[in-house]
Amino acid sequence: MAEPIERNLGLDLVRVTETAAMAAARWMGRGDKEQADQAAVDGMRAHLATLDIDGVVVIGEGKKDEAPMLFNGERVGTGRGMKVEVAVDPVDGTTLTSKGEPGALSVIAVAEGAGLMYSPGDLVYMDKLAVGPEAAGQVDLDAPAADTLRKIAKAKEKDVSDLTVVLLDRPRNAEYIDAIRTEGARIRMIRDGDVAAAIATARPDTSIDLLMGIGGSPEAVLAAAALKCMGGEMQCRLWPRDDRERAFAKEHALDLEQILTTDDLVGSKNVFFAATGVTGGDYLRGVDFSGARVTTHSVIMRSKTGSIRYMDAHHNLGRLREIAAPSLD
Ligand code: FBP
Repeated sequence: MAEPIERNLGLDLVRVTETAAMAAARWMGRGDKEQADQAAVDGMRAHLATLDIDGVVVIGEGKKDEAPMLFNGERVGTGRGMKVEVAVDPVDGTTLTSKGEPGALSVIAVAEGAGLMYSPGDLVYMDKLAVGPEAAGQVDLDAPAADTLRKIAKAKEKDVSDLTVVLLDRPRNAEYIDAIRTEGARIRMIRDGDVAAAIATARPDTSIDLLMGIGGSPEAVLAAAALKCMGGEMQCRLWPRDDRERAFAKEHALDLEQILTTDDLVGSKNVFFAATGVTGGDYLRGVDFSGARVTTHSVIMRSKTGSIRYMDAHHNLGRLREIAAPSLD
C-alpha cells in the first residue's frame, strides 16, 4: 500500500546524509578523495537500506560495472513504502574534502513516482542557469548573459553591478566569465560544489544572485530538486564533451538542444531533499568531532509544503558504531 502523502521523508533522509557526512569527514584533509567518497557511499547505503521506501537510484555513482554500490538502477529501501526515485551525491566536493577545504556536502533527493527524475546517462556535464524565487520565470538559458543579468537585476531591484554570479572556476566557463565582467556584475568563482552554489541563489541570507556555467549533470538534478522546494528555477542543457558522448545521446534519444527546466529535471510534485555539511562552508557547517561526540549540520526540504528545516544533530559515535555504521571508523 502507498505511504500517506503527508509523510515527510526528508526527516528520514537526513539520517542518510548525516551518516555519509560523518564517514567522509573522517577523511578530511587526508589527500584521498576516493576513500572519502567510498566511506560516504558505504554510510549512505547502510542507512538507505533501512528506509521504508520502494526506491530506485536514478542518479548514483554511475553504472553497475563501475560502481559496486548506489549504481544507477539499484533498488534501495525496504521495498515497503512510497515508490520513489533517488538521486545521491554522497560527497559533492570530494577534492574539497580531501584537501580540507570548505564547501563539501553530502546530498540526497527523493522524488515520488517513476520516470520523473532526469537521467543524463553518460553525459557528465550540463550548461546551467539557476536563480532564486524572485527571478524564477524570468530567465532563459538561450538569452545572452547580458540580457539575463539585466532581467535578474530588474527582478531583484538592483543594479547589474550589484549582482553576484557564482561559477565553477573552469576554462570551459571562460566565455561566461568574460561576458559577466563586460556587464560589470560581480563574480564568485568556486573550485567545486555547485549544488550548494545553486542553492545559494535561493537563500535570502546570501549575496549570490545566480549560478551560471558548465558543471556536473548529476549535481544539476540534485540542485533542481532543492530549488523546486525553495521556489527557485533551474535551466540546463546537456553539454557533450566529445563524439562518444554525442553518439550516446543519439542512441539514448537524449536531446542535446533541449532546455531542461526544473520540471524536466525533477518532474515529481512530491520531492524531498536533504544535505549535511562535510567540510564547513558558508551554507552548512562541517562535521565537528569531539571524542565520541560528533555534531552534524543539515538542511531538510520538501517541495509540497516548501518547508526548509535546519537541523543540528549530536551523535554518540560509540553507540552508533554498535548499531549501524562501521564506515565511521
Ligand atoms: P566531485 O565531488 O564529484 O568531485 O564533484 C564536485 C564538482 O565540483 C561538482 O560540484 C560539479 O558539478 C562538478 O564537480 C564539476 O565537474 P568538474 O570538476 O569535472 O569540472
